[in-house]
Amino acid sequence: MRTKTGGASAARGQSIQVDVHVRPGDALRALREEALAGLCGRPKELSPKWLYDERGSQLFDDITRLPEYYPTRREREILEQRAGEIARLSGADTLIELGSGTSEKTRLLLDAFLKEGRLRRFIPFDVSEAFLRSAAERLAREYPALRVHAVVGDFERHLGQLPRGGRRLVAFLGGTIGNFKPEQRARFFQEVAEGLAPGDGLLLGTDLLKSRERLFHAYNDGAGVTAEFNRNVLRVLNRELGADFDLEAFEHLAPFDEEHGWIEMRLISRRAQVVRLRSLERSVHFEQGEALRTEVSCKFRPEQVEAELAGAGLHLAAWWTDRAEDFALSLSLKR
Ligand code: SAH
Ligand code: AVI
Repeated sequence: MRTKTGGASAARGQSIQVDVHVRPGDALRALREEALAGLCGRPKELSPKWLYDERGSQLFDDITRLPEYYPTRREREILEQRAGEIARLSGADTLIELGSGTSEKTRLLLDAFLKEGRLRRFIPFDVSEAFLRSAAERLAREYPALRVHAVVGDFERHLGQLPRGGRRLVAFLGGTIGNFKPEQRARFFQEVAEGLAPGDGLLLGTDLLKSRERLFHAYNDGAGVTAEFNRNVLRVLNRELGADFDLEAFEHLAPFDEEHGWIEMRLISRRAQVVRLRSLERSVHFEQGEALRTEVSCKFRPEQVEAELAGAGLHLAAWWTDRAEDFALSLSLKR
């Protein structure tokens, strides 16, 4: 579906175009299905995408400013150094950003690409509609020379519906690729590559393996913002499915899993309890200490990233890290 919004909301910029592929009814149906499978099965698990209603998106934005949460700062450091080089190497006239959120760091890329003189279109793509619309409107005001075409979509279903045409660079920043499990990640690389034409590129942010201790503190911060972000999924279930989760009855814990090389966000039931999901006419039993997994966040070795990209037909053109080698940005091109 296409809706065009503009006028006062994008004053001084061009009007923005918004394609909506995830309608509220579809999202609710998907949540109902996932909640039935994920909460009633064992181990209990939900997809991280349910963390990002408006409040969750705002909480993630708060996380990016925490002293313990290094990825955003490290990726920004790389972009500050390399945005010009990225723009030159890519030569794109269209920048697509997957999982765009606020597109805050992306402004460094937009500035560099505009300086190169070829960029015409910016396409932010995100599942969180209200947050995406306001971010896109802000960008259209700030960059009147750009056509801003936002797409409300799900990585797992709508990559094939990204607007085509021109020389394109797909940016997937923040380490969000780490929130896919390995099979999902392979499917994602394959689908992105299939949608690209020769010469198009993927700019990928990956968080690198490092000490368990630093990883632990980044996901178990002292101010408890990550805990709020994690528990927010229970608010989403209460609101959307008429559930009666008591948020205080669940503790946030995000340990590092050595075997899989990922941080795993869990909500641990503090006591044995039964939670009602009224709109599903179901009850879910939690044992004391039982975990609900709400996210994995994979950490990578450089050679692993290169090999996985190559497996999908994306060939590494450049690899950059921050000074501390905490985080990497890679540019790979489709031949
Ligand atoms: N790129 C930004 C934001 C990262 S947060 C940064 O680097 O800081 C992850 C973003 O991905 C959120 O905006 C969230 O709404 C979006 N997201 C999560 N799951 C998604 C899915 N399945 N499809 C599309 N977007 C998704
Ligand atoms: C969006 N994503 C890359 C974040 C991460 O680090 O995996 C989400 C997050 N979860 C807890 N803190 C931040």
